[in-house]
Amino acid sequence: MPPPRPILAAAAALLFLLLPVHLALAEAQGFRGFSYLLNCGAASPTTDSRGLRWEPDGPYVSAGTPGEPTVPGPGSLLEPTLATLRTFPNRPRAKFCYELPVDKNRRYLLRPTFFYGAFSSSAPPPPAFDLIVDGTFWTAVNTTDDALAGAASSYEGVFPASGRNLSFCLGLNPEYTDAGPFISALQVIQLDDSVYNATNFNTSAMGLIARTRFGSTGDIERYPDDSFDRFWQPFPDSKHAVSSTQNVTSADFWNLPPPNVFNTAFVAEQDAPLVLQWPPMPLQNDSYYVALYFADTLPENSRTFNVYINDYPFIEGLNVTSAGLSVFATQWILSGLTSVILKPASPSALPPLINAGEVFGLFPVGRLTYARDVRAMESIKESLRNVPEDWNGDPCMPSGYSWTGVTCDEGSRIRVISLNFSGMGLSGSLSPEIANLTALTNISFAHNSLVGGIPDLSNLSKLERL
Ligand SMILES: *[C@@H]1O[C@H](CO)[C@@H](O)[C@H](O)[C@H]1NC(C)=O
Ligand SMILES: *[C@@H]1O[C@H](CO)[C@@H](O)[C@H](O)[C@H]1NC(C)=O
Ligand SMILES: *[C@@H]1O[C@H](CO)[C@@H](O)[C@H](O)[C@H]1NC(C)=O
Ligand SMILES: *[C@@H]1O[C@H](CO)[C@@H](O)[C@H](O)[C@H]1NC(C)=O
Ligand SMILES: *[C@@H]1O[C@H](CO)[C@@H](O)[C@H](O)[C@H]1NC(C)=O
Ligand SMILES: *[C@@H]1O[C@H](CO)[C@@H](O)[C@H](O)[C@H]1NC(C)=O
Ligand SMILES: *[C@@H]1O[C@H](CO)[C@@H](O)[C@H](O)[C@H]1NC(C)=O
Ligand SMILES: *[C@@H]1O[C@H](CO)[C@@H](O)[C@H](O)[C@H]1NC(C)=O
Ligand SMILES: *[C@@H]1O[C@H](CO)[C@@H](O)[C@H](O)[C@H]1NC(C)=O
Ligand SMILES: *[C@@H]1O[C@H](CO)[C@@H](O)[C@H](O)[C@H]1NC(C)=O
Ligand SMILES: *[C@@H]1O[C@H](CO)[C@@H](O)[C@H](O)[C@H]1NC(C)=O
Repeated sequence: MPPPRPILAAAAALLFLLLPVHLALAEAQGFRGFSYLLNCGAASPTTDSRGLRWEPDGPYVSAGTPGEPTVPGPGSLLEPTLATLRTFPNRPRAKFCYELPVDKNRRYLLRPTFFYGAFSSSAPPPPAFDLIVDGTFWTAVNTTDDALAGAASSYEGVFPASGRNLSFCLGLNPEYTDAGPFISALQVIQLDDSVYNATNFNTSAMGLIARTRFGSTGDIERYPDDSFDRFWQPFPDSKHAVSSTQNVTSADFWNLPPPNVFNTAFVAEQDAPLVLQWPPMPLQNDSYYVALYFADTLPENSRTFNVYINDYPFIEGLNVTSAGLSVFATQWILSGLTSVILKPASPSALPPLINAGEVFGLFPVGRLTYARDVRAMESIKESLRNVPEDWNGDPCMPSGYSWTGVTCDEGSRIRVISLNFSGMGLSGSLSPEIANLTALTNISFAHNSLVGGIPDLSNLSKLERL
């Protein structure tokens, strides 16, 4: 046994839920609500092998130029959506955003895919960059290892919509590479309200680490079996894998797992624990969302067992029947490699089994600029021509990614405090709504061709410098 560690303190904050499942008809549904399948850089719509229709990204993004991968990957990997991409300019600390109308207060699954082209280790690596959703820093994108294998890289996250548009942005972080970001495809799928609803999306967003279908040797399980096109990765192991033709109907699982994931499982050997090294990569010491899915592969059976994660009890006395159930924790501390251990509750019991699991990292939802300043900046943007390509998304956030020429103060409200449009080559007539930026201290408009003069700024009491 390893020495005890302070996970027990966190255990009080855990939320455990057992969700029984009742039989109901589950049908594959198309994507509902505001959902997008964007083929970046494409000129016309295309349909992929699953019959999903991908639209060109042009209507949702004002920056960047369409292009193609430097070297196409092996034919089998070259999905139609990977044949084009969009590249963005090399402008340090600029963020380039897709603006997507969404349903405010709903949650969205985002899956951007990146394929720069196959390359050899002697070539310069593909650009690395940041992903940003509204004011939230999501993750850094590094496609080097996948590109060496000729493969595309995908990231998946679940985010709340905080306004009428969701902005998904690529941020050029000069600490990584000296090259503009790129993107091949973007999926944005509205989730049903019950999916992952134990997470408080007012404060947290989730980034996928692993979503696994145990015992499967086949393809990735996804749409249409999964209504939201989540990817359930196979996890083969000939020693423990079993399959069945049970029809577990999963409509009553809050997370709505696809029915087919219950047709494969890992089953322990009689009187022996089942030990899984899963997820299969080391994790940073942090809190994670962990969901496990179970259904007996034999009808009329039930089996009772205990689940431990790294020797700490995750759930004890679990009674799994062919009707299925899921167990999840919203804040489970993991660090390094993870062992999931299933032990029979009594010596003679049927051996434990497991069908599927998901692990997400949690990260804080970032703050947004004071709404009145956002409206004023939008109005200023609309009143001008030739504005910088990065004037999209939140004007100030996340930190370090404000619009070119805009400086902000991150106090109790995030306010615009300085506009330096000097030498940007702007034209048009400046919107009088600039007078609503009441925290402004400095303004510079030198060397532009603005017409119609400077609006009345007498209300900007903090203005020091013009
Ligand atoms: C919202 O998104 C649409 C579509 O991309 C765009 O035309 C519009 O300007 C966006 N609105 C704001 C405030 O960014
Ligand atoms: C990207 O990943 C490669 C291979 O793992 C690594 O060598 C490189 O330093 C990473 N790049 C950045 C910017 O982190
Ligand atoms: C999650 O959704 C289920 C099904 O709609 C509901 O019964 C449950 O109360 C919800 N939980 C939370 C925390 O909102
Ligand atoms: C999240 O925010 C909404 C709107 O402000 C509020 O109605 C809801 O109760 C909040 N949920 C939680 C779990 O704090
Ligand atoms: C499950 O459904 C399939 C197709 O509807 C059917 O052929 C099969 O007999 C069903 N299996 C069971 C165990 O009910
Ligand atoms: C994980 O982090 C917590 C608090 O941040 C710390 O107390 C604990 O020792 C760390 N555990 C490991 C294994 O590093
Ligand atoms: C498990 O649940 C089944 C069905 O509800 C029930 O028949 C069985 O007695 C339960 N087993 C235990 C050990 O509670
Ligand atoms: C304003 O921007 C210009 C051009 O980027 C720069 O040369 C100048 O120093 C800036 N002025 C201030 C006060 O930051
Ligand atoms: C300032 O904001 C208010 C409220 O949003 C708006 O009604 C008004 O038109 C704005 N003022 C100017 C000068 O644009
Ligand atoms: C505003 O201008 C003053 C005087 O030049 C300078 O000291 C200050 O740093 C500027 N503030 C901002 C936010 O640019
Ligand atoms: C200045 O502020 C006052 C009081 O809020 C308002 O009545 C007036 O319209 C504002 N003037 C301008 C030019 O925005």
